[in-house]
Amino acid sequence: MSEKLLEIKNLKQHFNVGRPNMIKAVDGITFDIYKGETLGLVGESGCGKSTTGRTIIRLYDATDGQVLFEGEDVHGKKSAKELKKFNRKMQMIFQDPYASLNPRMTVADIIAEGIDIHGLAKSKKERMERVYELLETVGLNKEHANRYPHEFSGGQRQRIGIARALAVDPDFIIADEPISALDVSIQAQVVNLMKKLQREKGLTYLFIAHDLSMVKYISDRIGVMYFGKLVELAPAEDLYNNPMHLYTQSLLSAIPLPDPETERSRRRKSYDPAVHNYAENENLEMREITPGHFVYCSDKEYEQLKVQYSN
Ligand SMILES: Nc1ncnc2c1ncn2[C@@H]1O[C@H](COP(=O)(O)OP(=O)(O)O)[C@@H](O)[C@H]1O
Ligand SMILES: [Mg+2]
Repeated sequence: MSEKLLEIKNLKQHFNVGRPNMIKAVDGITFDIYKGETLGLVGESGCGKSTTGRTIIRLYDATDGQVLFEGEDVHGKKSAKELKKFNRKMQMIFQDPYASLNPRMTVADIIAEGIDIHGLAKSKKERMERVYELLETVGLNKEHANRYPHEFSGGQRQRIGIARALAVDPDFIIADEPISALDVSIQAQVVNLMKKLQREKGLTYLFIAHDLSMVKYISDRIGVMYFGKLVELAPAEDLYNNPMHLYTQSLLSAIPLPDPETERSRRRKSYDPAVHNYAENENLEMREITPGHFVYCSDKEYEQLKVQYSN
């Protein structure tokens, strides 16, 4: 596999919602993201996927842990100039294309926001040329530049959101359920656009989703989250064919099967976290069971999984 673009080390994001309540939205996750890949992140609503994305991109200060971008600690950076540099390299596409675009701004101004902040155009003319070019890149056109978000469909708005992210020429894009709010007929178009842009520009994606069929289609590797923890990480095919963590097995058993015959006999596997029965002092970490396939487990479970999945 290629070089690491990001290294996320024991990242934590705890929200203080009035003592003694503390929401451990992200609770010590460790994983790498490689240059040019799409890493899918799945898990039920509330497990901490968005918080993970938002913390990586520094929309939140991390409670603990590190995010290294090409080896540099993103969260340790202090100077405005250094932060600005990272803000340009990492962009985000949001779930709700209705809420994430300012309704009072024209499409041109929305797309050019990053261009303006980072001073990427020398003149008004160059700025507009860049906007037109971006509109074309995402399958819209020049005539759309002076319109307002409400004049567009959900799919078109998501294209505007993508153009806005691309405007600063980023290396890494976090897409937080970018197609969940769209009609099913439009979802594939947006995903295919993202795949095309990835090929053309060598982009790296963290693709957050709860739809397990779409995430399989777009991802090279997939991570599974459960209550603030990353419990399994594997190449996409491998995760679907050999889910090793009991939670992943349960999650995958919930996907309806296309064939009615097999769908009728499908059994939902439930997950009971109590089966792990960890002691206080147990050493829990992500461990590699088969090449590239990691499971969050104890020493004892590691030995069992190694035996179970050898050969
Ligand atoms: N800004 C916040 N303040 C307090 N709690 C939050 C905040 N954002 C998220 N949470 C809580 O953190 C947990 C994880 O949320 P989130 O990351 O949005 O999950 P997901 O994206 O997987 O649905 C949830 O319990 C959610 O209520
Ligand atoms: Mg979310």
